[in-house]
Amino acid sequence: MSITIQAITDGFAAEIGDVDLSAPLDPATVDALRQAFWKYSVLVFPDQHLSVDQHLAFAKLFGPLETSIGVYRADSPLRVRPEIADVSNLNTHDQIWDANSRLRMFQLGNRLWHTDSSFKYLPARASLLYARSIPPIGGHTEFADLRAAYDALDADTRARLDGLIAVHSIFTSRARLGFTNFTQQEREALPPVPQMVVRTIPENGRRSLYLASHAGEIVGMSPEEGRALLDGLVEHATRRQFVYTHRWRVHDLVIWDNRCTMHRGTDFDDLRWRRDMQRATVSDVANSCEQAGVQSIAH
Ligand code: OGA
Ligand code: MN
Repeated sequence: MSITIQAITDGFAAEIGDVDLSAPLDPATVDALRQAFWKYSVLVFPDQHLSVDQHLAFAKLFGPLETSIGVYRADSPLRVRPEIADVSNLNTHDQIWDANSRLRMFQLGNRLWHTDSSFKYLPARASLLYARSIPPIGGHTEFADLRAAYDALDADTRARLDGLIAVHSIFTSRARLGFTNFTQQEREALPPVPQMVVRTIPENGRRSLYLASHAGEIVGMSPEEGRALLDGLVEHATRRQFVYTHRWRVHDLVIWDNRCTMHRGTDFDDLRWRRDMQRATVSDVANSCEQAGVQSIAH
């Protein structure tokens, strides 16, 4: 049986039916899913029953698995396997975290618009987030279409952005929240990296903004000017017409293209409800500057 595709808008976000991701997929189905992914950037697969291995096996169809940044943090042992990013509000003992836990502060970064792992030299291509338990109220995930946002820019702005490189760091997004007490060792493990502000998606040639709260400066501009330009672009790209809000159901798997979308989690009562979300992430083929053939700052 072939998959069904229910588009949410013409070019952004679609719900996929008639597919069981726990079983091996035939090549025609894999091809259809990849095509839908390049076209819509966000795919929702409702009612999937996946073990961790099945979740990871499906992720590998989109690229090589990335290791979660949880492994860089010295403060707490991992609740889940290192290939899975733990996006839950649970501690190592599988209980809801404490109000003042470091884990909670760190995860607050997911409330800011971002794209996954743009703070790594080799960033993420796709993320696959799976809902094992969800709160009854809130805890949605919003997605912004950065291709449509790029298309909507005027010609002068596009020309101005052409070739610009932004500097991304996980500590930039955390500092926006006032969270700065990282050890020297933690900082050295994730140094700032260059990424293009505009990139081209190879599968379809479409251009896209590449933005995140991890980006703080633009190479060759004063910090103030760079920050103002980036803030203005994020504001533009997250206007309502570019945003799809996903309201989770248990056992939804959502995959998104980090190269041309941003996302953020919305508020919920995280000291009351369990929200167990687990993410598999796959890497891109190269840093965005390398892909654009642009000589970036020394790395
Ligand atoms: C993520 C993320 C937001 C959310 O998994 O990368 O940012 O709503 N999640 O949990
Ligand atoms: Mn994220």
